[in-house]
Amino acid sequence: MSAKDKFWRKKKVLITGHEGFLGSWLTNALSEYGADICGLDKTLGRPLSVLNGNSKRITAIKGDVANFKLVKTIILQFRPQIIFHLAAEAIVGESLRNPVRTFRTNINGTWNILEASRENGGVEAIVVASSDKAYGTHKNLPYKEDVALRGEHPYDVSKSCTDLLCQTYYKTYTLPVCITRCGNIYGPGDYHFSRLVPDAIRSTLSNKQFVIRSNGKFTRDYIFVKDIVDGYILLAQKLQALELSGEAFNFSNEEPMSVLDLHEKILGIIGKKHLKPRVLDQARFEIPHQYLCSRKACEILGWKGRYSLEKGLKETIEWYREHV
Ligand SMILES: NC(=O)c1ccc[n+]([C@@H]2O[C@H](COP(=O)([O-])OP(=O)(O)OC[C@H]3O[C@@H](n4cnc5c(N)ncnc54)[C@H](O)[C@@H]3O)[C@@H](O)[C@H]2O)c1
Repeated sequence: MSAKDKFWRKKKVLITGHEGFLGSWLTNALSEYGADICGLDKTLGRPLSVLNGNSKRITAIKGDVANFKLVKTIILQFRPQIIFHLAAEAIVGESLRNPVRTFRTNINGTWNILEASRENGGVEAIVVASSDKAYGTHKNLPYKEDVALRGEHPYDVSKSCTDLLCQTYYKTYTLPVCITRCGNIYGPGDYHFSRLVPDAIRSTLSNKQFVIRSNGKFTRDYIFVKDIVDGYILLAQKLQALELSGEAFNFSNEEPMSVLDLHEKILGIIGKKHLKPRVLDQARFEIPHQYLCSRKACEILGWKGRYSLEKGLKETIEWYREHV
């Protein structure tokens, strides 16, 4: 049995947002390693998903992470050893349209998880999804983990707050919590067609011109979902042994790209280079350039992305070709 299987076998794991894009991949991986999973999500049974909903190792609860009574009851009754807190309003445009719902889910939801864990005790590791957006705009790139968190717009601020809440629950109450910060995650199973990669792939596969909201020159990290799942799992496994509580980790393959270049790459792989994009140049309240340094994750966790952009995109495109 591998060290991973040994660690996760029969481990009681609570995953919030387990039916989301990243949550589905993480839930599948941990159930394969033998963990007993309780998932909390406000939406169950999405039709377009990679989640293995038939696994006997997963108990799904439909509910709102911003409901403290519910969160507290789940933690009291299920007694998780490990918690992954992913549930969030994860779409920047939705956050602009619904700031209060975003703050309630992303901020109140996070303090519910932290506070219920503090009150109940017994949780060995909590891994919380922050984001590269938590950093806000900085001139010096790539972001390193110790630069200031200063989001300016609703999603970004909700993630700066999420992140700071984790830090205070460690510093004040020594809660074993650590934080992940990633750029744009892509891969099979992302049902959010407002996101660049799913939108660009779907448009191209259906011979439509891809519409770019920004000027196409914004720079971002793009990282394959399985590499991020590896990072989350490593972090939870090593949090106690390496005393990582209160730490944040960036995960990036350190190959930032412009939207136009990424789109060109997708066109090339699908073989439709003639489908030039339509550039609207209408993006508002978005950070123009952001990308992460992941040296800390490589050196401390021994994490390394396994997927080149080419390999990750090919796997993603094949999935959309089959499922959409
Ligand atoms: N995908 C990315 O590029 C990316 C990058 C950086 C950080 N993140 C963060 O990672 C996490 C997962 O992102 P994702 O891409 O899987 O997003 P997602 O939207 O696919 O998943 C989020 C899940 O949370 C659930 N949810 C939303 N509000 C809820 C609530 N009030 N109560 C319970 N469940 C609720 C949704 O139903 C969904 O299943 C999020 O916290 C996101 O902010 C994502």
